[in-house]
Amino acid sequence: MSGKLNIQSRLAVLEPETDMLIKQRRPWDLPESQVTDEADFLNRRQIIAAGGGLLAAGALGFNARAQTDPSAGLYPAARNTAYTITRDLTPEEVNSTYNNFYEFGSSKSISKASQALQTRPWEITIDGEVEAEMTLGIDDLLKKVTLEERLYRLRCVEAWSMTIPWTGFPLSKLLEIAKPLSSAKYVQMQTFENPKVARGQLAVWYPWPYTEALTIEEAANDLAFMVTGAYGKPAAKQFGAPIRLAVPWKYGFKSVKSIVRFSFLKERPTTFWEEINAGEYGFWANVNPKFDHPRWSQATERVLGKNERIPTVIFNGYGEQVADLYSGKTERKYFM
Ligand code: MTE
Repeated sequence: MSGKLNIQSRLAVLEPETDMLIKQRRPWDLPESQVTDEADFLNRRQIIAAGGGLLAAGALGFNARAQTDPSAGLYPAARNTAYTITRDLTPEEVNSTYNNFYEFGSSKSISKASQALQTRPWEITIDGEVEAEMTLGIDDLLKKVTLEERLYRLRCVEAWSMTIPWTGFPLSKLLEIAKPLSSAKYVQMQTFENPKVARGQLAVWYPWPYTEALTIEEAANDLAFMVTGAYGKPAAKQFGAPIRLAVPWKYGFKSVKSIVRFSFLKERPTTFWEEINAGEYGFWANVNPKFDHPRWSQATERVLGKNERIPTVIFNGYGEQVADLYSGKTERKYFM
C-alpha cells in the first residue's frame, strides 16, 4: 500500500559525495546528554543573537516563501480563542532553526536542507476503509476548510518544549471529507518519500516513509489539528509543509509532517518509531511526567528560547479535553 522503496532503488540515488549513511546517528545512539544538555542550544541562540539570525532568515527565505505560496492569501487566519496558552510563544527564529525532521537528517539543524522540498504540486490520497477513495491537491483541500489559528504547546519525547501559533483546521473536518466506514478504527498518516530531495531517507535502517496513526476517536477529538501554517503564514518547510498534524497531548513524534496519505484502517498499524524501537516509542505516546523514557526522565522539560526547565504536566496540560479518551486506561503502555 505504501509503495516503500527497496534498498536498491534507495541506494541508486546515492551520489559519490554522500556520506550520510555513515555519518547519520541512529536514534538508539542518542546520548542522554543530548536530551538534557542546553549548551548546544544556547550556543546556537548566541550565534543568532550575534547576527547569524539575519543570515539564517535569508537562507530560509521566510518572506520569499509567503510570496510564492499560492495559499499565502489565506493567512493570517482568525485566532480561535478557545485554544490559548499561559506560556510565552516560542520566537519564530528559535522554532525555525531547531527541528526534528529525519527525512533531512538526524540533527536539529535541518532547516536549510528542508528548503529542497517542493510543496506544489502536492497531492494527498485518502484511501482504505472510506466510502470512496480520492486524491486531491492541497489547494483543493484548503478550499473545503476554514482556517483558524490556535496556540498549542508541543512537548517532544526528548524533554524539550515549545509554544506555537499554528494555523490549520480540525482533523475532524478531514474525517468529514474522507467519510470513513464504520469498519475504520484507525487513521494512518504518511509522509512523502523522495530520497533525491530528502537525503535522510537514504538511511536504510529507518522504515521510510515516516508514518503515524491515531484511533478514530483520537482523530475526532477537537484538539487534533491539521497544520498548514504557523506564525501567521504558510508553514515553513521545516515545520512539515504543506500539511502536518498537531496532537499536543502526545509526544511530538506523533505529529507527522508533510503528509501525502491518510489511510483508514481496520487494524492498528505499526508506526515509524514503534518499528524502530517499540520499547522506547510506543503507539499511544501520551505525555506523562510520571513515566520516564527508559533512558531519561520525563518529569521536566527544557523550554526552547528560554533558559529554564519546567515541570511536565500529564497530557501536556490538555487532560480536560482528552482524558476521557483513555478513561480507565492507566497502564504504562498508554504513556509510551
Ligand atoms: N514527521 C516526519 N515526517 N519526520 C520526522 O522526523 N519528527 C517528529 C515530528 N514529526 C518528524 C515528524 C518529532 S520527533 C517531533 S518532536 C516533531 O515533528 C517536531 O516538530 P518541529 O520540528 O516542528 O518542532
